[in-house]
Amino acid sequence: MIIHSAEFSVSNSEVALCPVTSLPEYAFIGRSNVGKSSLINALTNRKSLAKTSGTPGKTQLINHFLINEKWYITDLPGYGYAKVSKGIKSGWEKMISDYLLQRKNLLYTFVLVDSRHAPQKIDIEFINWLGENQVPFCIVFTKSDKLTKAKAKKNIDDYRTSLLDYWEELPFSFVTSAEKKEGMNEILDFIEQSNSLYKA
Ligand code: GTP
Ligand code: MG
Repeated sequence: MIIHSAEFSVSNSEVALCPVTSLPEYAFIGRSNVGKSSLINALTNRKSLAKTSGTPGKTQLINHFLINEKWYITDLPGYGYAKVSKGIKSGWEKMISDYLLQRKNLLYTFVLVDSRHAPQKIDIEFINWLGENQVPFCIVFTKSDKLTKAKAKKNIDDYRTSLLDYWEELPFSFVTSAEKKEGMNEILDFIEQSNSLYKA
């Protein structure tokens, strides 16, 4: 899929205030600093559509971007950021879970996990929560430029093994580098296919 247009639409702290639309939507979520905003910029081939930062906790709202005037991407705050107070944290968690459970036009959630690390408890818990709540999702392994192919493969295999403890079927997954623009076509093809099957 060729991206002709990608524009920031709106930021919100509540699902009730998100754009009223039946256009298909795809959310990007994962731990703070995993590379959500960078992946959105790489996918859309824009340098700073979504704000990125070396400091965790940059994205704090539900940010909508309209792509090709036909579908939406949402950039969500990271979960598991230890440096925020408990009050703020539970507010974010409610904002994210309300959005994921209530947004009717949300077709898939892309869960980003850092390909450098062994499966993290918080990621597995989040993935299991999505499964239990029947929220369709894919897994995106990020920052693959930061490790060897062999090490990436081992970490990805370990993820599969961890998930097979809980689930019979494994979700679709993508190996990506926003830095090297790897894995972008695969994700865009997946979205294009999903858009073509969608009837509002
Ligand atoms: P929050 O909004 O804070 O939750 O973070 P985020 O998940 O949106 O991460 P962001 O895209 O801001 O990236 C965090 C850091 O990781 C930045 O310093 C990015 O430059 C770096 N980064 C993101 N993707 C890649 C990648 O594919 N390769 C490399 N080497 N660095 C990356
Ligand atoms: Mg971000």
